[in-house]
Amino acid sequence: MSSAVAARAAVPHTGLTTRSIGAVGSSPAFSAPIHKVAASPQNLHSKFLPKVQQVTVGKQNAARIAMSGERSYKITLLPGDGIGPEIIKVAVDVLKEIGSQEDIKFSFEEALVGGAAIDETGSPLPEKTLEICRGSDSVLLAAIGGYKWDNNPSHLRPERGLLGLRAGLNCFANLRPATVLPQLVDASSLKREIVEGVDIMVVRELTGGIYFGNPKGFGKNEKGERTGFNTMIYSESEIDRIARVGFETAQKRGGKLCSVDKANVLEVSQLWRERVTELGKEYPDVELSHMYVDNAAMQLIRAPKQFDTIVTGNIFGDILSDEASMLTGSIGMLPSASIPESGPGVYEPVHGSAPDIAGQDKANPLAQILSAAMLLRYALNEATAADRIEAAVLAALDAGYRTGDIMSAGMNLVGTKKMGEVVLQNLAQKVVSR
Ligand SMILES: NC(=O)c1ccc[n+]([C@@H]2O[C@H](COP(=O)([O-])OP(=O)(O)OC[C@H]3O[C@@H](n4cnc5c(N)ncnc54)[C@H](O)[C@@H]3O)[C@@H](O)[C@H]2O)c1
Repeated sequence: MSSAVAARAAVPHTGLTTRSIGAVGSSPAFSAPIHKVAASPQNLHSKFLPKVQQVTVGKQNAARIAMSGERSYKITLLPGDGIGPEIIKVAVDVLKEIGSQEDIKFSFEEALVGGAAIDETGSPLPEKTLEICRGSDSVLLAAIGGYKWDNNPSHLRPERGLLGLRAGLNCFANLRPATVLPQLVDASSLKREIVEGVDIMVVRELTGGIYFGNPKGFGKNEKGERTGFNTMIYSESEIDRIARVGFETAQKRGGKLCSVDKANVLEVSQLWRERVTELGKEYPDVELSHMYVDNAAMQLIRAPKQFDTIVTGNIFGDILSDEASMLTGSIGMLPSASIPESGPGVYEPVHGSAPDIAGQDKANPLAQILSAAMLLRYALNEATAADRIEAAVLAALDAGYRTGDIMSAGMNLVGTKKMGEVVLQNLAQKVVSR
């Protein structure tokens, strides 16, 4: 077994992957039964996390636990808009249940973000919300946005709250897994043979690039026509920082990193490729490749299994991680982590606020629940609790429960609340034997 394969077999995942149940993406162990949790949680945690985050998390929690003698954490809840309040409620119930079973004390504080914050305070990200987030161990966000605010001026759009939150907490790295679960392989719109065993991690730069570059705005050209413009800019240090997360993530997965850019057209991408190539020399155990973003968009659909870890800039990552997530059949299943160099990170589902189904008990709460599991694993170093939540989710799927977005013939269609109840029951029954 190569060292990269050995490392992958031993570990890691962000949120729900088949590895969380002691199996490896495309290996024969893929369909291992959920009650077999193998590796030591501490080991799982320390092996996976990019170094920047390991240091932060380790110090913070060690201090808290040493001082108080108990595992006690402050979590900021940001329900946001649309289906947000419905799904975050389910995730909080799950956290409370696992907390009571594993002797972990959570204190939750809710704060406003997005459209709800605009309505209440006139700002998509009130200063108080940032303060509460900064004072907590971690942030669990649901989703923001909705039709009501679609025509607001840009500074009063819910998305501003999200971008401001990530920037305000310096969350520069976004980790988005796209794993095709065996239970849901037929939920993908692609053929079974294309998607079966897909297990990709997209590492997206989150606080730079075209979404934040200056100058930006509206102007007029020489013909007097209105123009709109943005600036795509990355500094060497920004590229190096995210590239290292990419390399370190790949080291703990399949040992393959694909850096995605548009270096045939953009100067910013030429610098990106130069730096990533240079840094690659420090990671001889990682097989580095480069791909233009347009090709990457095609290859993700044509042959997604070629990818292990992808690292890319903000706008390319935004688009490609959504595309990768659709390989799995539903964005209602996918969690994500936004990680800072220090301080609390933001854990949230990949999907938006789904205003079309808000308030109807139709939303799939599993991505939110799995985001809570990621939070436990990466922010709080509570890998056992995370493993147990992930196993309870898989058990719900194994038992045939499905929300509308992942429904298929012969399965049991349930709503948001019922899906939450089933996960809670699985937790109560301790489907994971340790
Ligand atoms: N991180 C975020 O908060 C985030 C991300 C993307 C979009 N948005 C915002 O969300 C709003 C809606 O955007 P959109 O429609 O492009 O994306 P969306 O992800 O909200 O919805 C896309 C489709 O997926 C479905 N869907 C999403 N989550 C689901 C779930 N948990 N269960 C079942 N079905 C689910 C929706 O019903 C919809 O049909 C917009 O205002 C957008 O700006 C927010």
